[in-house]
Amino acid sequence: MDGVKSDQIILALDVDTAEEALSWAKRFRGKIGTFKVGLQLYLRNGVDVLTGLQRLEVPVFLDLKFHDIPQTVGQAVRAVSHWAPRFLTVHASGGQEMMESAVSHAAKETSVLGVTLLTSLSEEAVRAGGWKGGVNETVGCLSELARKAGLAGVVCSPHEASKERSAWGAVAEIVTPGVRPPGTLADDQARSKSASEAIDAGASRIVVGRPILKASNPEAVLEAILSGRG
Ligand code: C5P
Repeated sequence: MDGVKSDQIILALDVDTAEEALSWAKRFRGKIGTFKVGLQLYLRNGVDVLTGLQRLEVPVFLDLKFHDIPQTVGQAVRAVSHWAPRFLTVHASGGQEMMESAVSHAAKETSVLGVTLLTSLSEEAVRAGGWKGGVNETVGCLSELARKAGLAGVVCSPHEASKERSAWGAVAEIVTPGVRPPGTLADDQARSKSASEAIDAGASRIVVGRPILKASNPEAVLEAILSGRG
């Protein structure tokens, strides 16, 4: 299996404080392509974190997964656009018009990505939620809406990466969280694969959080991912 390039890795900064987040970013700056700020960190200390990451001049993935009426999402995207994040997420289930509004309010440096189905949702959970077509059909429909809305790509599980790559063509962003090195804990991820399997399947980037943040030797985990063993 081929290795994974450092630029293809997104580190999920799922920690509580700006200090912790910035120390991870300093530790892995230049070794990991992008640093992801999600709700946990943004709601506690978003301004400090984003200011600090901007000072470190590292690309930021602002993963706030907006989902509301088009006007509200557009204004939310506008409210964060001065940070000029490299990536920003919206829930594709918010509909085409909502996604179009996000794209039209985003900074020019920002690629808006559509979250199809959360990688924590199993087949049963998806059907129980009313998506009677199950994971594959639902991801396919949501992803088509994202394409029509002019998004730069989608977030999906590694299991859907190959189908999504065929649907989107070569240049789109297919970002896959739910990445787990072989033999490690799945945590709450229900549809996971290893990093190199995700890239081989067509992902352009992978999101990794707990496998690095909770490791006794995070550098060794990164090394394993880069060399195709993770
Ligand atoms: O710790 P772990 O590697 O599971 O982290 C995965 C990250 O990716 C989390 O920050 C989570 O919010 C995010 N994510 C996800 N599934 C999606 C979209 C984002 O797990 N569909």
